[in-house]
Amino acid sequence: MASQTSTTTILCENPALRNGWYAVARSVDVGAAPLAVTLLDTKVVLYRSGSEVFAAPDRCPHREAPLSGGYMSDGCLVCPYHGWSFGTEGRCERVPSSADNIPVPPRAHLATFATVEKYGLVWLCLGTPNTLPNGAPDIPIIPNEDDPSFRRINTPVDIWRCSATRMSDNFLDISHFPFVHLGTFGRAQETEVPKVQLEELDSGWYGYKYEVRANNSPLGTMVSGQTVDVVERAMSSGFHLPFDVRSTIAYHTGLQHILLLLSTPIDDVTSYFTFVVWRNDDFAVSAEEIIRFDLAIGAEDKRMLEQLDGVLPLDKTTLVNAQADKASVEWRRRLNEAMQS
Ligand code: FES
Ligand SMILES: [Fe+2]
Repeated sequence: MASQTSTTTILCENPALRNGWYAVARSVDVGAAPLAVTLLDTKVVLYRSGSEVFAAPDRCPHREAPLSGGYMSDGCLVCPYHGWSFGTEGRCERVPSSADNIPVPPRAHLATFATVEKYGLVWLCLGTPNTLPNGAPDIPIIPNEDDPSFRRINTPVDIWRCSATRMSDNFLDISHFPFVHLGTFGRAQETEVPKVQLEELDSGWYGYKYEVRANNSPLGTMVSGQTVDVVERAMSSGFHLPFDVRSTIAYHTGLQHILLLLSTPIDDVTSYFTFVVWRNDDFAVSAEEIIRFDLAIGAEDKRMLEQLDGVLPLDKTTLVNAQADKASVEWRRRLNEAMQS
């Protein structure tokens, strides 16, 4: 395989990508202490003041110390170097070296980035946030979030040493199942992918529907709620730009398992990965057991993708495609178009 030279500018310097929303942390991970994250090569500090999460460059306006090395006190983020304190909206509330009657310098306030908490995650936008026609942030929609018969399970944020472009491509691809996922649900003997028909799915997702026969390993048994060797799954895979993928799985028993697979570019070739599961089950199996199977599947993808160099070529001609790659081809076309805008 010809390897692509990795550059750190294809994604990170693209202005359109800076207007997208990206999951950078779980809500529960931002609270008692500030949290450092990196998005598109930009170092950011997240902190919670009151009930809200704020994001700012991880660089104090005073002498550029990393604010993420500081601490929280009375709802303020305190810089570790000279103790300047920052509250809601990044307002500098206190300069300890100045007498109380001296106002803080106007430029001491932090320039904050937009954040939203949704699905148990902190979403961050570095630029002018993309919005839906109704003005709401253009964060992927999972209607099951509002359905009381579903429970939501969040997973820790992991770091994958590969490009977010490689990850979204993989999550839209089912032809790797019988090769990469043999240790979990993939069945080696079923390699042919039926004709892919792309369509508008619900809630702004675009992709395709398909049926798969999956190995029902002991771990899978707990997730599928069935004890047979092979389970039939009615599935769909869809994308939402830039890098969000949703996979839905429905069993004939009525059980549904919805997966939101989120790839966030730390830089062009390193990414955060987190996924969220929604299930309409009876809560008999613990959340930890449920995600153990999906974590094992994710580890199989990670092992493969970390061997691929650089950003996935987004042009029309570099890669060779098969019929089964139709969804990825369309996602790449739209991503490429959005990145040119
Ligand atoms: S560098 Fe932050 S208070 Fe001085
Ligand atoms: Fe996979």
